[in-house]
Amino acid sequence: MIFTVAIDGPAAAGKGTISRAVAAEFGFAHLDTGALYRAVGVKGGDPIEAALSLTAGDLNRPDLRSLEAGQAASRVAVIPEVRAALLEFQRSFARREGGAVLDGRDIGTVICPGAEVKLFITASAAVRARRRWLELGGEAAPKPFEAVLAEVIERDERDMNRTDAPLKPAKDAVLIDTSALSIGEAIAAALAPVAAALSAR
Ligand code: DC
Repeated sequence: MIFTVAIDGPAAAGKGTISRAVAAEFGFAHLDTGALYRAVGVKGGDPIEAALSLTAGDLNRPDLRSLEAGQAASRVAVIPEVRAALLEFQRSFARREGGAVLDGRDIGTVICPGAEVKLFITASAAVRARRRWLELGGEAAPKPFEAVLAEVIERDERDMNRTDAPLKPAKDAVLIDTSALSIGEAIAAALAPVAAALSAR
């Protein structure tokens, strides 16, 4: 069975948690496409060369989840040649046998416009920054909450305002605002449209 779930949204909206839950529930493979851009961002050197020569080792670096890697990813992600270099890998992953969940910024709009289900996960900037800050250790985090909030806002603006594949919901995406939802509620809201589309086949 070929079945693609496209999950887009801004930083720290809950895409990762939701994507893993959808993949586990339906037995689909999962690709975190942000990791591709993070790996290019932290590799250094010419980002186009880095995107063309990404290896499994680059994708398994433990430092990919840091705030710095996220900022570096957002900066290399504005380069059209970097996006083009990563496109085919993502498309073929999406159409692999057995179903696939891809999460990112442009999955429903550019990578998989024909995805069977498209979700756009969002939450207020303050809620997202707070989640990221708690992940970093809360009061023990290396940065104050205000600095994390400023970085979240800066990254949103860059991701939404770039010319090539900006962050925006596909016209046919289901919007899920997780600001006031528990993790369980957010997952349930995401599973429902996938289950409905699968049973309608
Ligand atoms: O989802 P994330 O925080 O790991 O993504 C890191 C950055 O990578 C994000 O700020 C923008 C870029 N990105 C992108 O441009 N397109 C994607 N499909 C995924 C991520």
